[in-house]
Amino acid sequence: MIEKLSAIGGRALEEIEKTSSFESLDQIRVSLLGKKGSLNEVLKGLSGINPEERPVIGAAANEWKRKIEAALEVRKSSLEKVHLEQQLQKEKLDISAPARLAHRGSLHLVTQTVRRMMQIFGRLGFDVTLGPEAETDYLNFEAVNIPADHPARDMQDTFFLGPGVVLRTHTSGVQMRSMLAQKWPVRVLCPGAVYRCDHDATHSPMFHQVEGLWVDKNVRMSDLKGVLQFWARELFGSDTQIRLRPSYFPFVEPGAEVDVSCFRCRVKASDDCKICKGTGWLEVLGAGMVHPRLFEMAGYSGDTEGLSGFAFGIGVERIAMLLHEVPDLRLLFQGDVRFLSQF
Ligand code: DAH
Repeated sequence: MIEKLSAIGGRALEEIEKTSSFESLDQIRVSLLGKKGSLNEVLKGLSGINPEERPVIGAAANEWKRKIEAALEVRKSSLEKVHLEQQLQKEKLDISAPARLAHRGSLHLVTQTVRRMMQIFGRLGFDVTLGPEAETDYLNFEAVNIPADHPARDMQDTFFLGPGVVLRTHTSGVQMRSMLAQKWPVRVLCPGAVYRCDHDATHSPMFHQVEGLWVDKNVRMSDLKGVLQFWARELFGSDTQIRLRPSYFPFVEPGAEVDVSCFRCRVKASDDCKICKGTGWLEVLGAGMVHPRLFEMAGYSGDTEGLSGFAFGIGVERIAMLLHEVPDLRLLFQGDVRFLSQF
């Protein structure tokens, strides 16, 4: 019996040593130590053996069982090591390979353009102030000297929200808000969305303006020109010229439309310039000297001798479209990432 055990055990140890897969190692374990395993089969035969020999054989059987279990364990861990080695070889990681960049969003072209303007005017001392997009009829029109019968109030242009409230049609109402909030000197920039019932390649029912207002003693039209000249050169290039053409806006007197020299053909007015269409100039904003009515409306009183100011209103989309040669305004608001991510 002892010899039989030794033969089984010895063969088992050899087999375990030779095994090269987890599956066959497991098969060996079952065939030896399982319920119907050969070691158990031997032990089942113990009943037919004389009682004195039984403990000796039992002990020998347990000893073999222990040896086999230990050998299985050793073989298993060495197979695991080999397996891990193979896996590491196969799944080589090149940690020096450049990473795939995560998708990053970008600021909308309109936001970028507004921020650029805030930077430029900020350097001239303008503070930024915001007004509500739902504005009172009074501040949007009346307080900036647009009388009740003015065509700008026409149903075609204005979105009326309710009695006395409109979606602001321009940022000029913020001029009055600023003056009601503080006495002169006032030097503010008011960027924001404005709304008009209009929709085509160059008009959108929602667009953006940047309003500027500078009120102090002895502010002159030449100051307005200097400020706009600085702005134009920062934005369109250092050799940009500006020109003021007389125009009418109810809240300024005198009023002007302001052109900048074409940054593409540089006032050479070449016929085939797509930007200025051969005129050499680009109309970019409205401006003027603050109408005295506005100071009255703001309740400015007392030492108002020599009090003056200028204001301007810039269409943000127009500037962005010119600078980046965007052919259709609607592209800015369609939310197509392929278009927007170019900027
Ligand atoms: N509010 C005018 C518009 O929406 C733009 C404008 C013109 C603003 C002249 C001004 C200005 O402050 O002085 O068309």
